Amino acid sequence: MQVGLKVKRFDPTDSGGKTWWQEYEVDVHPDSTVLDALIQVREHVDGTLAMRCACRASICGSCGMKVNGNAKLVCKTRVVSLSPNGEQLIIEPMGNHHVVRDLVITLDTFFDQINRVEPYLQPSFVPEHGEYVVSNESMENLLKSMNCIMCGCCVSDCTVLEVDSNFIGPAAFAKAWRFTEDPRDSKRDERLKALNDEDGGIWDCTRCLKCVEVCPKGVDPMDLIMELRESAIEAGNTNTHGYHHTESFYKSVKKNGRLDETRLAIDSAGWTNIPRLLDLAPIGLAAMRRGKLPPLIPHKSEDHKKVRELYDSVEGESK
Ligand code: SF4
Ligand code: FES
Repeated sequence: MQVGLKVKRFDPTDSGGKTWWQEYEVDVHPDSTVLDALIQVREHVDGTLAMRCACRASICGSCGMKVNGNAKLVCKTRVVSLSPNGEQLIIEPMGNHHVVRDLVITLDTFFDQINRVEPYLQPSFVPEHGEYVVSNESMENLLKSMNCIMCGCCVSDCTVLEVDSNFIGPAAFAKAWRFTEDPRDSKRDERLKALNDEDGGIWDCTRCLKCVEVCPKGVDPMDLIMELRESAIEAGNTNTHGYHHTESFYKSVKKNGRLDETRLAIDSAGWTNIPRLLDLAPIGLAAMRRGKLPPLIPHKSEDHKKVRELYDSVEGESK
């Protein structure tokens, strides 16, 4: 089958860096992957196209790129799945990474993020003889995170990193989760406190689900971030805007059957945090001008009793 590729090129040597789009047309087998198509371009059409790959079996994590706007391992992505009738595929380097040339990125940012969470076991003791034996169940629990092949796809498409380069990032949080859950690690509380307190920490995730969608190994980083939040709260870390936001959300829906948005904004900022409250004033005024300011005293939803029953039944189950 014929397929069109539109590839984003970058030449760092051309007067400080030149970016352009280049189109190719190649003949591929119906079972071919996007990587096969790109290799065909490089070997038979344009030897200057730079890309990276190694295992060609979705193991090494080196062939991450954006295809039609989403990060993917191109060795795992069949052409026909995205282009059943030869539609043109748009191929770019991964986002939130430094581009070296064409489709090749460095993983410096990625490993800087991973290093921030101290990605190594810190046991309280090392047995004098033999191994530190733990139960099978506790290790099986870690497999999800250990499936990470460090491809960087989740970092590429993280919508928080797009606007805040200080965010620790989905892959690093998944790695942090692995060590907070490892029974041999002795730094669980310190780790949770750091992830809770740090600028760019667990509370900055917006739960957009993009990392879950693009992870080729089912690590589901966002789910692990949510688990880290719960563990951080259980460990007594309740000093963040994120925690106050969660608590206010929970209480107002329980009480009124709907969200009290005014209270949510003030609770999240903190009632005594005057500078932060003043930051909210322009937003409140803009909402008022457009008739969108929520009522200062919230109306109860007609179904608030049913909502309360739902809360009671869920809370009863979890006791
Ligand atoms: Fe890749 Fe998934 Fe690991 Fe992110 S969590 S680096 S997407 S394998
Ligand atoms: Fe190794 Fe794609 S080439 S994961």
